Amino acid sequence: MSFVTVQDLFQTYDDRPILERVNVQVDEGEFIAIVGASGCGKSTFLRLLLAQEYPTRGAVRIAGAAPAREPGLDRGIVFQKYSVFPHMTVRENIVAGESMRTRWGRFFGSSLKAARTRADETLARIGLDHVAENYPATLSGGMQQRLAIGQALAARPRILLLDEPFGALDPGTRLSMHDFLQDLRTETGMTVFMVTHDLEEAFKLGDRVLVFDKPRWDPHDPSRYGATITYDFDACDGGIPFQRLKEDTHVLQAK
Ligand SMILES: Nc1ncnc2c1ncn2[C@@H]1O[C@H](COP(=O)(O)OP(=O)(O)O)[C@@H](O)[C@H]1O
Ligand SMILES: [Mg+2]
Repeated sequence: MSFVTVQDLFQTYDDRPILERVNVQVDEGEFIAIVGASGCGKSTFLRLLLAQEYPTRGAVRIAGAAPAREPGLDRGIVFQKYSVFPHMTVRENIVAGESMRTRWGRFFGSSLKAARTRADETLARIGLDHVAENYPATLSGGMQQRLAIGQALAARPRILLLDEPFGALDPGTRLSMHDFLQDLRTETGMTVFMVTHDLEEAFKLGDRVLVFDKPRWDPHDPSRYGATITYDFDACDGGIPFQRLKEDTHVLQAK
């Protein structure tokens, strides 16, 4: 049985179909990259995986059960815009990430001390131990995104959801973030869903690349139909099928 199963998923907002009949199965440890035109429902899909909202129809199952509504228990998420807490130091941000697993949402006394020690281990792993006492605003964009990923990982999620996590970074920082993410993934064996608008990034990092697109298209009323997964590429198969995507989908045309 697959780890994540999405079955006949539909999502509609105000009678407007966004996602239609999405079906996909993902094994534990797979890295799933997601591409698609802006506005086609990729972030919506991540929110459904996160159980932040419920689908109009269909179901998401994780390890055979409906996903828990509590955030941070088995899924962590990182957005393009830095999702760390600006009023907390770097170390306290990591502690806050782990504290989501606790009953009260925070640590007290000796358990707080132990959490700070674990946070320092996480910071060493993500190369931020030298700025543990600093506030996020003093860090570069790449460092803030490493912190956001470290914070999501501190709760030890089995699934990491990344919504265009490197979109705001310069090309050099992006490349070092790729190495960072690949190392983390090898280390933790976690399952990753990453939305990106960069096809090369998708094929470089993903084991599979899912293309979200509208299989039905009304030129007079583009919002009439929703999107679904129109391609599920095995990224290990070699080159990026640019030509095929260009001819068959709206993905590249939207850019
Ligand atoms: N909570 C919501 N209520 C109404 N419309 C929404 C809501 N969330 C997203 N949408 C709309 O759904 C569509 C898909 O949005 P989104 O999932 O953010 O697309 P993407 O991430 O692929 O750019 C957009 O047209 C957006 O305006
Ligand atoms: Mg989005």
